[in-house]
Amino acid sequence: MQTDSSFTFVLFGGTGDLSMRKILPALFEAHRAGGMLADSGKIVAVARHVADRADYIDWVNEHVKPHVSKNGVDETAWASFLDRIEFVKIDLGNPEDFTLLRDALSGRPGIRVFYLATGPSLFVPICHALASVGLNENSRIVLEKPLGYDLKSSNAINDAVGEIFAEEQIYRIDHYLGKEPVQNLLALRFGNVLFEPLWRREWVESIQITIAEELGVEARGDFYDNTGALRDMVQNHLLQLLSIVAMEPPHSMDSDSVRDEKLRVLRALKPIDPRDIGKVAVRGQYHAGGIRGSAVPAYATEPGVKPDSTTETFVALKVEIENWRWAGVPFFLRTGKRLADRVAEIVVNFRAVPHSALGASALRGGANRLVIRLQPNETIRLYCLAKQPGEGMNLASVHLDLAFDRFFREGQMEAYQRLLLDVINGRLALFVRRDEQEAAWRWVEPILNEWAASNKPPKPYAAGTWGPAAASAMLAQHGTCWLEEEN
Ligand code: BG6
Repeated sequence: MQTDSSFTFVLFGGTGDLSMRKILPALFEAHRAGGMLADSGKIVAVARHVADRADYIDWVNEHVKPHVSKNGVDETAWASFLDRIEFVKIDLGNPEDFTLLRDALSGRPGIRVFYLATGPSLFVPICHALASVGLNENSRIVLEKPLGYDLKSSNAINDAVGEIFAEEQIYRIDHYLGKEPVQNLLALRFGNVLFEPLWRREWVESIQITIAEELGVEARGDFYDNTGALRDMVQNHLLQLLSIVAMEPPHSMDSDSVRDEKLRVLRALKPIDPRDIGKVAVRGQYHAGGIRGSAVPAYATEPGVKPDSTTETFVALKVEIENWRWAGVPFFLRTGKRLADRVAEIVVNFRAVPHSALGASALRGGANRLVIRLQPNETIRLYCLAKQPGEGMNLASVHLDLAFDRFFREGQMEAYQRLLLDVINGRLALFVRRDEQEAAWRWVEPILNEWAASNKPPKPYAAGTWGPAAASAMLAQHGTCWLEEEN
């Protein structure tokens, strides 16, 4: 990918965790790869607690460099990357400081990108301050999640930002959309004729989507305790994955064709009746346990977490989509911290054959299944039944394995790298449109409200397990179980 479109990438929250771990390393990778960023493109970091550029570069060397490459840093590329970096000291509490930014940006060629790697409470003040010095023209703005706490607060941010920037200038990040395997899901569904005819209620019995983490809340106890898994993972990542799995073939891959189709799915989600929540939603919280042989503490004892917290660290849901393609097919979603394994995958369980001429073993579960694993390793596995060798007709489950690293050894891109290049190049398809975000909040809100009102605590599960037993019981009622395979 060659580019000559110049840009200035302004990074608010330039010394924050996200800048350190994700944004600057991703920009470095794009720089190192060559040809992805215009030579004249600059990064302007904005921060308050740093004196000047020299100090900022020291910070980048100390904190960002360790995150850029597991296999050692290319020093020449690193030095030329640092040449791209400029610095403006701004106190975000002081809107007059934005004249410094305006002066620093004046006369530069190309597009301006303002990346707000800050807390959401700063989104609106920053946008106002940018507008007050005329910096909202010829610009793009990138908003990180969490964008609001519920529908009302997310609307308030979107309304305020929307008065300053047009929707096509706004890039709402959901980093799951930048993951290579999520892109591959689109390729699998819409690049092959094989799966699409089967991708519907007539042939699909149920679908599972799991994002399981071994990690706990790390240093984010305070944030997480006010957020919980439903807001942190379901409202965004899981519902985005669901919409890609379930959407109709888009007319093209342009941004609005794809987002229109995802929106249709989100709007077709069967609303949750608060009286049914106990049947279709399970929330859990981890207690002390062990992960890979090490003891880990209970959530409620993590730093920043209230000892009597009722915040959920695990969610399992049964979701239905009210349209012709999917009516009656349960989609089971689940996510959690401190689970038995780190894995993100989509499991499509096809129906058994309608009549078995081959005996009862042809009706067994476990075959007729497609497993799309997004991480830790990207694979697609198609489980089929085959005859066991020897006498008689006994069938057993076997699988066709597609491991992408066997086919493509190079060119893998981290989610943030892809997304940042898309912002710089004005490609919106992998960013969440306001109406999608609203539809997702609208759907999760009855669950949030019901849980907030309920005096029942989340169900406990031991760290290092697959969550509360109730999550398995929910699937058992539908004659199925979560797929939990070894990595
Ligand atoms: C983030 C959540 O959006 O996604 C985190 O805020 C979570 O809590 C992370 O750990 C998971 O992302 P990934 O890419 O590591 O699966």
